[in-house]
Amino acid sequence: MKQRDDPMTTDYLFLHSRHCSLVLELPPGEAPLWRYWGPRLPDTAAPGAALRATRPLPSFMLDVDQPLTVAPTFGVGWFGQSALLAHRGGRDFAQAFTACEVEWVDPGHAVVLKLTDSVAQLRLDLQLRLDEASDVLVARSTLTNLGATELDVQWLAAATLPLPGDAAQVRFYAGQHMHEFLLQTEALTRSLWRRESRRGRTTQDCFPGAVVTTPGATAHDGLVFGAHLAWSGNHAQTIEWLNDGQYQWQFGEWLAPGELRLAPGASVITPELVASCSTAGLNGLAANFHAELRARLPWAGGAMKPRPVHLNTWEGFYFDVQPEKVKELATAAAGLGVERFVLDDGWFNARHHDRAGLGDWWPDASKFPQGLGELIAHVNGLGMEFGLWVEPEMVNPDSELFRAHPDWALQLAGRPLITARNQLVLDISRPDVSDYLFGKIEALLAAHPIGYLKWDHNRDLTTAGLADGTAGYRAQVPAAYALMDRLRAAHPGVEIESCSGGGGRIDFGVLRHTHRVWTSDCIDALSRVAMQRGFLQFFPPEIMGAHIGTSPAHTTGRTQSMAFRAAVALPGHLGVELDARLFDEATRAEVSQWITLYKRWRDRLHHGRVWLGEAGDGLAWQAHGDEAASELLLMVYRTEPSSFKYNPAARLPMLDAGARYRVTRVRHTPPAGHDGFGPAAPFFDALEQGVELDGAWLAHAGLPLPRSVAETCFIVHFERL
Ligand code: GLA
Repeated sequence: MKQRDDPMTTDYLFLHSRHCSLVLELPPGEAPLWRYWGPRLPDTAAPGAALRATRPLPSFMLDVDQPLTVAPTFGVGWFGQSALLAHRGGRDFAQAFTACEVEWVDPGHAVVLKLTDSVAQLRLDLQLRLDEASDVLVARSTLTNLGATELDVQWLAAATLPLPGDAAQVRFYAGQHMHEFLLQTEALTRSLWRRESRRGRTTQDCFPGAVVTTPGATAHDGLVFGAHLAWSGNHAQTIEWLNDGQYQWQFGEWLAPGELRLAPGASVITPELVASCSTAGLNGLAANFHAELRARLPWAGGAMKPRPVHLNTWEGFYFDVQPEKVKELATAAAGLGVERFVLDDGWFNARHHDRAGLGDWWPDASKFPQGLGELIAHVNGLGMEFGLWVEPEMVNPDSELFRAHPDWALQLAGRPLITARNQLVLDISRPDVSDYLFGKIEALLAAHPIGYLKWDHNRDLTTAGLADGTAGYRAQVPAAYALMDRLRAAHPGVEIESCSGGGGRIDFGVLRHTHRVWTSDCIDALSRVAMQRGFLQFFPPEIMGAHIGTSPAHTTGRTQSMAFRAAVALPGHLGVELDARLFDEATRAEVSQWITLYKRWRDRLHHGRVWLGEAGDGLAWQAHGDEAASELLLMVYRTEPSSFKYNPAARLPMLDAGARYRVTRVRHTPPAGHDGFGPAAPFFDALEQGVELDGAWLAHAGLPLPRSVAETCFIVHFERL
């Protein structure tokens, strides 16, 4: 405990996990100060002195030093970004927490810091949980209005994190429809770094997460930090350089003006901020996020079943859903080894194109006069599960639903309805709207053995006004989650895929309610290599929808071999998305071989670790294995033609340098009719049977790679002897 009036001593709070520690200082009468978030400290390591005892005041400063706290607030001595921006009719615009009560939930791992501002009459409860096994910190804030008047909140950070002063770069994702997880790397400077999304969904163009690296950090080594807001709506994050040479990192919901007003006594809880750090580079950080995400996936029965091979009808048929054709496709799919048949858009009332039908969730009578029963029985009879596409939050103006309830769409009086893809967004926070949607979709689930819903959300939100004219962006998000949960509670076996024009709703929030994501509408295998690598920084492979698509790819016009398309889709949750009725015998055999290969390896691919690396010269590798790297499947993708005479070797630093491995070739994918590889080399022939190699050699000198043309993949199995 603090010695009375000794400026050197104070109280501290420690959270430790396997590889990380977090240290706060608890000076009386204010919010806790950030002292440390980084690699694990010994239990006994404590700051030698209270922070202020170590920082002489610079010139021309306030006479009271204000270091970074867990909840820095504007107006009473803090000049950086504030964790809270709020006022009461213009008053109480400045806040400062004047008391902190520490409530342990799980000593050493989880705590609630109960902060109060007795002047502005606020309470802020900051929950912090540092998971022992995954090293993931989950933080969120609850703000309560203790005053007698309404509090207008403009910004409330889920949490504020410190980053060390040598944080050098931020890696984040930009992109757009068909270009998800487009990696951007920028230097951190003294300028405020900020990313915001006001589109009312997670979005492709502004993923709510980032990774910060320190100098020298690589895929395999070095100190890196990552954070992600578990939320499917508007969001913002900032990284700000502070006067004491460190950075602060904030995440929260981006709030529309007036959107969050707390009545006296009311509370609001932020989305969770999911953060971690690792000294094992980007791959180490990815492993931490994968562990946290795996813990939150809502599998029926508590455990994931092997991920079934999908066939999705979209790129095969688009809106041309004719029951006989669909049945033929199902028959062809079953012949390939497909296990789940997903009927995409085009099955419901008047849905012959994208201009009508959304909202009318019953089978189109011209296509399915007797309903979906016969088709589903056909699919089930072939041994496959049946899945169905829905887009519950949307409505076409040309629909029976909109004609009956035009007021159910989000809108603003006096402003035009702005359609996107000819559709509007329903105000699903209204109980009558969500009851309607629940009723319609539940009726389908009750009437038929439907095991899967592909849940889409194909537009940004605009003029998103509630019935009272206030902003309705944030209300949509919990309402969507609640509708998913209500359907899952009624039909616990049903799995849900989160889709939003591809990967526009991929986040740890929606993944508490869903089981798969549609990574991108772009199935071009070459585009997918980079996208999937970006995806895997935060999300594990078993939820990554990855399909074998057409050639040329519909979204890029590029042509790729079936083998390359299959090899790129292989490590994710595999599907086929093309008209398999049209396959010739050779193609049918090839696709079914890939499906067999996937089934053989999916257990290895979908549990444990993923390591990404580069061998140079257009060679990107990806290994999936157990934590100890005793068994691995390695995929080496050649994305570009070689500019070297000899291929570089792939150094695999995760292998156990003290062990020997049996290395066996699983597959090499030349394009059809092209040997592509020049003269054979005996080593690669020997790999067919398996070669014994030294772990240290593979880790430091590397695995020789065969010559190959671009857009090929070399797949190898490693087993520790
Ligand atoms: C979105 C999805 C596609 C498909 C279409 C159907 O674009 O991302 O996969 O389901 O909607 O309209």
